[in-house]
Amino acid sequence: MIPSDFFPKGIKHYFTTEKHGPDVLSQAERDLSSRFGARRLSDFCTGRYCLRYCTTALGFSGDIPVGERGMPLLPSGITASVSHSRVLCGAVAAPTSLYRSIGIDVETVGRVGGDMWHLLFTDSEMDFLRSIPSELEREMISTAFFSLKEAFYKMQFPLTSKYLDLHDAEVTLSPNGYLIRLLEDAGEMTMGQIFDGNVHYNGTEVVTFCALPGL
Ligand SMILES: CC(C)(COP(=O)(O)OP(=O)(O)OC[C@H]1O[C@@H](n2cnc3c(N)ncnc32)[C@H](O)[C@@H]1OP(=O)(O)O)[C@@H](O)C(=O)NCCC(=O)NCCS
Repeated sequence: MIPSDFFPKGIKHYFTTEKHGPDVLSQAERDLSSRFGARRLSDFCTGRYCLRYCTTALGFSGDIPVGERGMPLLPSGITASVSHSRVLCGAVAAPTSLYRSIGIDVETVGRVGGDMWHLLFTDSEMDFLRSIPSELEREMISTAFFSLKEAFYKMQFPLTSKYLDLHDAEVTLSPNGYLIRLLEDAGEMTMGQIFDGNVHYNGTEVVTFCALPGL
């Protein structure tokens, strides 16, 4: 479903369009999700299924509770990330010796309408998006820009504990790929720092990924 060379070597990944229920959860995960509504519970269960698939490949199959501001709480030595759209759910995990932190996001193309752009994008992002003549391409790239910000947020938060809003990072598309520039200091990451972003279109869905290599 996702080409095997999309994620760098050493990153475990698992994606599915199937939905899972609470039977895939540990008792602790079942307890913490007992008040979730139906959609949230289905996302959580499917996400934990994907996450556990990845972490088990790294030797950890225990509970994955919900940490600060919703991040998945992993044991030290493992970094992981999960995302769900209505269609696709996926997770990635890696040893922190290889990647200090990783983040993924999945979005459905076309759900980032032009009327939302000012909430999601900086002026230069909007100028760039407006300059794309093809409507389909504009929809694909605007969804990728938004998704990259979410993936970047999920990558940086476990390291910085900093909430960043959607105007605190700016995405550009260069001939070599997508770049994410931080417009604020965030912990050890500094304003102006640039990170690589990876984008894969999978049918109606876009999958994005950011990684901070190990030291
Ligand atoms: C947290 C957020 C990124 C989640 O994205 P989403 O598209 O709503 O939902 P997704 O399905 O893609 O991801 C949900 C998963 O993100 C993970 N997540 C939630 N908060 C997180 C955090 N602070 N750090 C890392 N991962 C987090 C969780 O694993 C969650 O799944 P789970 O609850 O089943 O474990 C989003 O809701 C949000 O708050 N965004 C605003 C901040 C932002 O994006 N800023 C961009 C700045 S560059």
